[in-house]
Amino acid sequence: MPPVPSYESTRTIANTYNRLGSLWDEMAHTSPFLINSYRLLDRCLSELVKTASPTRVLDMGCGSGAHSFYLGHHAKEVIGVDLSETQIGIAANRSAALDHVRFQVGNACRLPYRDESFDCVISYGDVISHIIDRYEEAIAEMARVARPNAIVTFEADTKWNLGLLYHPLELLDALRAKGVGHTTREWEGMRFKTFTYKELKAILAKHHLDILSCKGHNIFASLIPDRFLLEKGSRSLLGRLALGLGRLDLRLSNVYPFNRFGFNFVITARKRGHP
Ligand SMILES: C[S@@+](CC[C@H](N)C(=O)[O-])C[C@H]1O[C@@H](n2cnc3c(N)ncnc32)[C@H](O)[C@@H]1O
Repeated sequence: MPPVPSYESTRTIANTYNRLGSLWDEMAHTSPFLINSYRLLDRCLSELVKTASPTRVLDMGCGSGAHSFYLGHHAKEVIGVDLSETQIGIAANRSAALDHVRFQVGNACRLPYRDESFDCVISYGDVISHIIDRYEEAIAEMARVARPNAIVTFEADTKWNLGLLYHPLELLDALRAKGVGHTTREWEGMRFKTFTYKELKAILAKHHLDILSCKGHNIFASLIPDRFLLEKGSRSLLGRLALGLGRLDLRLSNVYPFNRFGFNFVITARKRGHP
């Protein structure tokens, strides 16, 4: 496996999201990649509230709190935690009218919550992949704070996706990292840890989490080069094509093997009950 760069400190990540501020929310409405991913995440959240009816939810790496806000209309209590003070401020403003939705600055690798205190933990927006050297600690923390039979659902970067074709050096890194994910190219000065499905399954099993579903997004949309998929916004021709492909991807999101080859996985798991 290639050496993991050491500059990816929690401070770097917090500074990046502090600097992005409300731009992060704007990007969620203009970047075809994020529009496609939120279509799937919104669908996952709506299924979650219908099938699991969670009561006490943790939103780990909540960012600007869009998911916490949605869940606040369905659960008795929602807590959002994030490294970025600025994002936590935006999240708190968004949910100001909801007393049972609260936010706190904190680190996913050392969650300030009691064991088995949530019946649902979500972590969307690639939080686990941001933690390129300590991702297993964050997974262990999600499992620790989850009650037996709780749902733990999170998003992470997929090792193999069509976008790699535009990044030969990264493709080489991926090929060298046999059986496990690699560290990606930079985005906003940060790099990300990718995973294979098997790798994630094994890590989750170690922490008593059994996978219920695996969904993918930006599967064929990742054929659109980054500068149109991520940066240029939905108004360019290629940006619009990325959105069209994103609709096809949504149909394929749950279909094997397509679900393993999107830009990201959305994994939903259940914590094993006490024997
Ligand atoms: C791409 S944003 C996603 C925000 C939100 N979950 C969403 O889907 O809109 C990733 C968030 O993860 C947070 N994050 C990254 N590493 C973290 C860590 N170790 N502990 C807590 N938050 C972290 C970042 O600060 C950022 O707000």
